[in-house]
Amino acid sequence: MATTMKLTVNGQVATVIVDDPNMPLLYALRDTLGLRGPRFGCGLSQCGACTVHLGGQAIRSCVTPMSAVGTTPVVTLEGLGTPAKPHPLQQAFIDEQAVQCGYCINGMIMEAAAFLAQNKSPTEDQIKDALAGNLCRCGTHLRIVRAIKRAAAATNA
Ligand code: FES
Ligand code: FES
Repeated sequence: MATTMKLTVNGQVATVIVDDPNMPLLYALRDTLGLRGPRFGCGLSQCGACTVHLGGQAIRSCVTPMSAVGTTPVVTLEGLGTPAKPHPLQQAFIDEQAVQCGYCINGMIMEAAAFLAQNKSPTEDQIKDALAGNLCRCGTHLRIVRAIKRAAAATNA
């Protein structure tokens, strides 16, 4: 039976009608709300491409059921910054040219944003540990780490 659910996404309340309250949050974000920031990669919590923030924590939206979200605020890449006013991480990824195909990058930025909110001056090893669950098949890891260090420095300046 269809159920109407409310989500708070990027500061806006949205209504989503679902057939199954255990439907993954990712499907509501992409398919119902048209937000393409979170990506579908593995669907199994193995790659990090679908990472969004739930109550400020980085979570895998592909394995987070709608029923577990409730009124907790969700933030996707679209809510982090804008082309006119990018988040320091978005600017740093551009400055470091840390993208090849780009498929992993939105999840990388969301994971890094939650991490930097907790640790404003991380070491390189801490950055690597924080991002260990986010896979990049293009192998841009060195640039990604440089971009996160650059964003941390810019935020602390
Ligand atoms: S799509 Fe969610 S972790 Fe891979
Ligand atoms: S840039 Fe292609 S998967 Fe990371």
